[in-house]
Amino acid sequence: MPAVLLDLLKGRDVETMPVWLMRQAGRYLPEYRALRARAGSFLDLCLTPELAAEITLQPVRRFSLDGAILFADILLMPYALGQGLSFKEDYGPVLSPLPPKLEWHEERLEPVFETIRRVKKELSPSAAFLGFCGGFWTLACYMIQENRKAGFEKPLALALSGDARLDRLIDELVEASLAYARRQIKEGIDVFKIFDSHAGLLGGKIFRRLVVEPTKKMVAELKKDFPDIPVIGFPRGAALADYESYFGETGVDALALDQNISLNEAEKFLKPIGLLQGNLDPKALLEGGESMKKQAENIVRRLGPRHIFNLGHGILPQTPPDHVEELVSFVRSLS
Ligand code: CP3
Repeated sequence: MPAVLLDLLKGRDVETMPVWLMRQAGRYLPEYRALRARAGSFLDLCLTPELAAEITLQPVRRFSLDGAILFADILLMPYALGQGLSFKEDYGPVLSPLPPKLEWHEERLEPVFETIRRVKKELSPSAAFLGFCGGFWTLACYMIQENRKAGFEKPLALALSGDARLDRLIDELVEASLAYARRQIKEGIDVFKIFDSHAGLLGGKIFRRLVVEPTKKMVAELKKDFPDIPVIGFPRGAALADYESYFGETGVDALALDQNISLNEAEKFLKPIGLLQGNLDPKALLEGGESMKKQAENIVRRLGPRHIFNLGHGILPQTPPDHVEELVSFVRSLS
């Protein structure tokens, strides 16, 4: 069976609409919780190839999804740049203060590359293998703020004042992310995704400077070495006009939409630019049943037939796995 997700991203004709889900591996799955308990901390889980590979494959096997996303975290990048990182239970990530000088410790990411090799051996050829990194602005948000309880006021203040230190940090993050992406591709991933989860904190000119420009640079560099690896961009929470400039200018092969973009706007303004992914509300999946199906059907009808079915953000931990099953078979029954 061919990988329809890859075919679609490469502009080939496909007979079914590919479907995969953000945070398809995670706490809503009992088999994830079992392995999570064995690892101790979430960071250890990400850095234990045997467990991370198994977790990557769990949802793909259970639901026959069209994509497997590497089990890791965008915050492994600050960790590889020498910043301390931990994930506090029921709180989220906490980073140590940003060191004055960042140093690239690629060896800290070797377990991730081993995870990729292991998944590659086991993955069904019908599923595409997605690698990823964080968007540079989003990474800078966590690296400067250290934790999210206070919002992201420190990075925002630097962004608004045009502080050149922020631009320098973002440049360093582009370079390091390029090294990271190149290794992920060499080890076996088929598609690369950039998660700029806090892009929506910015808009207009500042969005261009801190989101569009660095992403454009990253994509251009990556395409020089790997023209055949499709890139998906996700500037979550951005305004419609910013989504448009992102898609029009960065060179990404597909645009992932969060659930705040209306189908009318997506169909009218973004679909003409290129391939879209998204944007079912994770709350619809949590609820399941007829209302979920109705929303899924609207997406398929309005954004299809050439579309990557996905959520607008990650699966919520309280989601019953049966709802995922129901969604995947429903989407397949439509195409
Ligand atoms: O299935 C997958 O999507 C694969 C793995 C994946 C994780 N994080 C695992 C994870 C991916 C692609 C990410 C990306 C990521 N990490 C993003 C971008 C996407 C998004 O969600 O907006 C961001 C912002 C992070 C940073 C991060 N990681 C936060 C803020 C948190 C805590 C909040 C939470 O959901 O618990 C994490 C932890 C995390 N990353 C978990 C998982 C499965 C939960 C950890 C647990 O098991 O307790």
